[in-house]
Amino acid sequence: MAKAKRYFFCRECGYQSSSWLGRCPECGKWNTFDEEVVQASTQVFKQSSNQAISQSAPVRIEEVKYDETVRIQTHCSEFDRVLGGGIVPGSLLLLGGEPGIGKSTLLLQTALSMQGKRLLYVSGEESEQQIKMRADRIGKPQGEMYVVSETATQRIFEHIEAVKPELLIIDSIQTISSEEIDSSAGSISQIRECTTLFQRYAKLSGVPVLLIGHITKDGTLAGPKVMEHIVDAVLQFEGDQNYGFRILRALKNRFGSTAELGIFEMQSDGLREVPNPSEILLSQRDETLSGSAVSATLEGARPIFIEVQSLVSSAVYGTPQRNANGFDFRRLSMLLAVLEKRCGFKLGAKDVFLNIAGGLRVSDPAIDLAVACSILSSNVDIPIPPTICMAAEMGLNGEIRPVTRVEQRIAEAGRLGFEKIFVSRYNTKGLDKHKYPIEIVELAVIEDAFRKLFA
Ligand code: TYD
Ligand code: MG
Repeated sequence: MAKAKRYFFCRECGYQSSSWLGRCPECGKWNTFDEEVVQASTQVFKQSSNQAISQSAPVRIEEVKYDETVRIQTHCSEFDRVLGGGIVPGSLLLLGGEPGIGKSTLLLQTALSMQGKRLLYVSGEESEQQIKMRADRIGKPQGEMYVVSETATQRIFEHIEAVKPELLIIDSIQTISSEEIDSSAGSISQIRECTTLFQRYAKLSGVPVLLIGHITKDGTLAGPKVMEHIVDAVLQFEGDQNYGFRILRALKNRFGSTAELGIFEMQSDGLREVPNPSEILLSQRDETLSGSAVSATLEGARPIFIEVQSLVSSAVYGTPQRNANGFDFRRLSMLLAVLEKRCGFKLGAKDVFLNIAGGLRVSDPAIDLAVACSILSSNVDIPIPPTICMAAEMGLNGEIRPVTRVEQRIAEAGRLGFEKIFVSRYNTKGLDKHKYPIEIVELAVIEDAFRKLFA
């Protein structure tokens, strides 16, 4: 047994140092170093790495063969879509998300729906009975599924040896520990060691491994950067706890695009795939009230029509309140400043509350125009007709700027039965307007929108 060593690790980025440091030289954060007792790498570790080295030999790139059809389909089309068409054999995937968002449910459900595969679900958080209870809520296993409650890597690898799974799920990496390292489960050195062990297992055996990871308060993966470098894909499961909608995104994907996203709804019997989110999001609209506008946004490559709601009221206290749910707060302040300057509103004396319906978070800049119009609508207390939707970015001078893939947004708006879509004048060059069953309204500046809606 090697001698125990002590190291200091940065909580934020995993930087390793032999002495305590006030400021991390890697990420620049202050006061982030924790001491961990680490054992020097062991014999097992060295053997396996030597083995990997001895098998490798350089090959001309033209001679490298792989089979495109070899991806493992999970029978959950939203999950497959985010991964770029299924799980690549030998890949190591990390699924992150806040506690209670549904990570365990998602992977258990995906595992249950996989046909004719032998799977091993290792949980460090729940007992076998608890996993079974959850599985009973969700559905029947379609393949051969094994569950085990275990936290020690050595024993997990014994179970793997016995079961010989075709897919391995670890729930969660923060609860797993290796005996070779003295520090407790969830510490940086444990996470790094265990992730590396599973990566090596995945690469040598060709069995894909799905790891669940926790997210810290500030929204990053706990023990994060160290893991993000090792794994092949980082998926994030997000959504508002109070709403049913959940979004699965790829933050990193070595085998596919990070633009795709999967949408689910949490129900009492597990997660339901939502192939057509706009229809659900819009059906809950109350169509006669002011302060509501529909935006034709794109999430990844999918059009999603989202309702933006605003409430503008006189500020009761000296400093006006601002609140944004699902929208960047600084962007809201910027849009308010533009509206104040260009549309002559005294928004400085008003409280402004903004909410994206359905608990979604939107980062597509095309939502700007709907945000601005919903604020204006609430301010003058005139509703925007429910047959209008919009897609444009707003510049600092109040100019209405073009957005990407406008044809796709217009076509989807027509399909959903909208009568008018507001877009930037610069977006319509070369566009055959008669092709679409919808009136395309062109705007140059935000005043145009104001005039068309409320004058
Ligand atoms: P869970 O998968 O345990 O979350 P995580 O692993 O990310 O911590 O999901 C927990 C929540 O999901 C819990 O609040 C209950 C809810 N849930 C349902 O609404 N329906 C279901 O069928 C299941 C299994 C869970
Ligand atoms: Mg869980």
